[in-house]
Amino acid sequence: MKYDFGMVGLGVMGRNFILNVSDNGFTAYGNDLDPEKVNALIEEGGDTSKVNASTDSKTFLEALSTPRKIMLLVPAGKIVDMVIESLLPNLDEGDLIIDGGNSFYTDTDRREAYLAKKGINFFGAGVSGGAKGARKGPSIMPGGNREAYQHVKPIFEAVAAKYQGEPCVAYLGPKSAGNYVKMVHNGIEYGLMQLTSEIYDILKKGADYNNDELHKTFDAWNKGRLQSFLVEITSEIFEQEDDLAEGRLVDQILDKAKQKGTGKWTSQNAMDLGIPVPSIDIAVSMREISALKDERIEADKLYDRPKVEKMDKSTMEKMAEESLYFSFIITYAQGLHQLADASKEYGYDLNIAEIAKIWRAGCIIRAGLLADISEAFEANPSLPNLLMSPTFVEKVQGTVDSTRELVAYGAKNGIPLPGLSNSLTYFDAYTSSRLPLNLIQAQRDYFGSHTYERLDREGIYHTEWEKE
Ligand code: 6PG
Repeated sequence: MKYDFGMVGLGVMGRNFILNVSDNGFTAYGNDLDPEKVNALIEEGGDTSKVNASTDSKTFLEALSTPRKIMLLVPAGKIVDMVIESLLPNLDEGDLIIDGGNSFYTDTDRREAYLAKKGINFFGAGVSGGAKGARKGPSIMPGGNREAYQHVKPIFEAVAAKYQGEPCVAYLGPKSAGNYVKMVHNGIEYGLMQLTSEIYDILKKGADYNNDELHKTFDAWNKGRLQSFLVEITSEIFEQEDDLAEGRLVDQILDKAKQKGTGKWTSQNAMDLGIPVPSIDIAVSMREISALKDERIEADKLYDRPKVEKMDKSTMEKMAEESLYFSFIITYAQGLHQLADASKEYGYDLNIAEIAKIWRAGCIIRAGLLADISEAFEANPSLPNLLMSPTFVEKVQGTVDSTRELVAYGAKNGIPLPGLSNSLTYFDAYTSSRLPLNLIQAQRDYFGSHTYERLDREGIYHTEWEKE
């Protein structure tokens, strides 16, 4: 017998994904250089006619039905190229290699072009949802050759998370479309995480919320319009006792956030495209500032901070909920704006409504809001920005005043709210028909004769600004 699906890399994600494939009625074969991982999978699979594995690449490839559908869940970077090279001599024309990691999109384009010349279909398919998602149903973002996708479609649709019965996977576009969409997913993830941490901070510092109150508040929010995976896990985090010391674990965790690069890539690429995503940019910067812990400790000694004027809990809670809702919307708006622009620039032909749909379950940024977002883009697929959607005008208008108040309160009391204030500033700027950048044009023309355009007539102008 031959197996339906192959997996290279039997770490946590690979093992969970392959078990999910087998739970859904497909036979699967794994491959890893580490015999312990191979044995662990065989043991957990329980029946080698359904899930089997080998350390030997040739045995692995011979075990798969053709065209072979081989997913790689290995660390992004050189290892992906090494695995491809090791498989290549024993592949047949028409086989599919699916990179499920967070590979950089230009690497995917390079690999796709290289393998296409050899008749092999290469897919970049972002997989979101962590280990539990991989086991129980992730959101999958595949891009590559549309016809070849048909071979893997039934398997992906079976294993993906379901939102009201609809699988959270769709063919997204050619070349690196899948990896690109996953990269922006992660940029949004960074933004939402930063915003959640700011709200935690202000509830704590501004209104003395303890961990039980934080748990209850986030839990209640998760039952309302803020319903989302990140709000849900945040509420659970506050409840976790510490095994090594008194109190709750969250209070003992070092405040230095690590990153593997996808948020930074989103920001860098948004700059290249000329699309503003300041809520994502600041989330990356905050991880960088957090890493400067020693410097922060020294700098803290040099300056006085204002004494925090405490706010009453119910006023604070209402403002915090509204501000988080507002800034979540702004962050999704920015990420989706970037996707729409990248779609034109890189020829991905993305369907934004479809992307919002496959994010409704399984992935880290899943949220009740995504159902509204997909509807907004279904109603108008060429919506330039979510902020232009009539249904979102109402949601944003109803929450912006609280955000203004909370950002002002944070500024006055020395509590940094950079994600919230960047979201607010983006909103105020994007919705201003007149910005002061006329002055910048005047300055550019003054010192460098860079010219300017006028409001009242066509043409390119230059002025001799300096008086004799
Ligand atoms: C997901 C996540 C995942 C990512 C982690 C870590 O969708 O399941 O985005 O792919 O690797 O969130 O990212 P950082 O280490 O950069 O925070």
